[in-house]
Amino acid sequence: MALSDFLAQLEQLAVEAQAAFDSAADSDALEAARIDFVGAKQGRLKAAQKGMGQVDGPDKPAAGKKFNEVKQAVEAAFEAAKQRLSDGAATQASAQRFDPTLPGHLPRVGHTHPITQTIADMKEIMGRLGFAAVEGPEIEDEWHNFEALNIPLVHPARDPLDNFYLAAAQAGGNDTLLLRSQTSTVQIRVMEQTPPPVRIISLGRVYRPDTADDTHYPMFHQIEGLLVAPGVTMADLKSVLRMFCQSYFGEQDVHIRFRPSFFPFTEPSVEVDMSWQAGWMEMGGAGMVDPNVLRAVGYDADEVTGFAFGLGVERICMRRHGITDIRNLYTNDVRFLEQF
Ligand code: DAH
Repeated sequence: MALSDFLAQLEQLAVEAQAAFDSAADSDALEAARIDFVGAKQGRLKAAQKGMGQVDGPDKPAAGKKFNEVKQAVEAAFEAAKQRLSDGAATQASAQRFDPTLPGHLPRVGHTHPITQTIADMKEIMGRLGFAAVEGPEIEDEWHNFEALNIPLVHPARDPLDNFYLAAAQAGGNDTLLLRSQTSTVQIRVMEQTPPPVRIISLGRVYRPDTADDTHYPMFHQIEGLLVAPGVTMADLKSVLRMFCQSYFGEQDVHIRFRPSFFPFTEPSVEVDMSWQAGWMEMGGAGMVDPNVLRAVGYDADEVTGFAFGLGVERICMRRHGITDIRNLYTNDVRFLEQF
């Protein structure tokens, strides 16, 4: 056979093999094409190889060279087709795994409320100082909200105009109940349950019938702190509050100032200010737990002393973030909330 005929046959074979592999739509079609072209017994490549024997002797090297080129090209076309089909199968399988009933991934639309953030920060800071966070009920009896806190029946703080009393019948009992007006209630609840030493904070809502304005709201949050142990002094109170403020406001040079005050449940009592932008910012009340309170919960007032404090969460949060109106925290305007 003339070399040129042989080469033309090979060319033809290469073109047809390429077309067959390219058009194989599934693995069965590909397998059929494979057997047809590269099958070990009757494949057309095999036949072409045999045909090489009929090429004239001096032309054999050129024929062999071309044969090897075509063989490689045909095998490569087969491998490419195999890859194409297996890629397709993978995509198809993953398309089948897609479950369109699953909820989609929304961009972040919610934010943690600034008060919730403040509460979390406060718990974290006080936790590092060894104070465990405890909770108490928002509906209280008079014993925990007043009596045990040394606020007797005749005290003006118990005035119905200053408290949200709940009708006794509505509450289903004889005890008068009210929405707690202070978190100091939790001091009593904890000390009734636990012998000293006690080292807790309690964060939560309190309620007072105040008219809302830029600094008042009928519901707000307090952080209450209580440490009772032998030998506790006001110096401990001041150190703890200073460390708390340093951590929360992230300033090293924070000063705490006490101004004499009065609370029925502490003696002596103070108002607490912290240094703030060349002035002072009022944070809340504090003092040494009144021995009457210690006795009311069955503690030995000669054995232990304690300090307590109650600070306004909103006020502290507002100072930190430069919020000028407390009502912003509760009107749920997304344009305000999404800044936090
Ligand atoms: N309960 C007080 C209030 O609501 C704040 C307070 C003052 C809490 C002194 C304390 C304290 O624990 O020792 O205004």
